[in-house]
Amino acid sequence: MVSPSSHKKVLLVCLGNICRSPMAEGLLRHLAAQRGLHIETDSAGTGSGHIGEAPDPRAQAEMRKHGMDISDLRARRLVRTDLERFDLLLAMDHHNMADMLKLAPSPALAGKVRLMLDWSPGHAGGDVPDPWYGGSADFAEVFRLLEEAVGALVDELAHDI
Ligand code: 4NP
Repeated sequence: MVSPSSHKKVLLVCLGNICRSPMAEGLLRHLAAQRGLHIETDSAGTGSGHIGEAPDPRAQAEMRKHGMDISDLRARRLVRTDLERFDLLLAMDHHNMADMLKLAPSPALAGKVRLMLDWSPGHAGGDVPDPWYGGSADFAEVFRLLEEAVGALVDELAHDI
């Protein structure tokens, strides 16, 4: 699915870059480090409402439960040059994906934009639900979905690198 030695820079993208995508980034860097894989990770938001903010305290708390500290991450907005800079840009939901594709000037760059849950055998084609208006159970569900998908992605990258 991912061509050999190409997808080593991975950008995780959601709307605010304070809930889902920093959780996905934290998981990816954690699992990559565990496997000794050199993957450049970053995350961004399609919206501008939370630029410069640390991840939502509920997202940080959920990650801490699983031994991962994402307090160092800061929200930024997705920019057009991200499509050139990264090998793989993973959308948390279909809205994010549509907004990302609006920035893609060519089919080649648009091809780098994929849905995060396409790596999840049980949830391919699905959305990571926005937990912003939810509670801790919603953040726990986001973690479960991301753990499976990011785990499968790391398995694939481990074979390719
Ligand atoms: P995220 O969650 O896209 O997973 O970071 C959201 C964060 C903030 C808002 C919406 C979703 N908001 O409307 O401010």
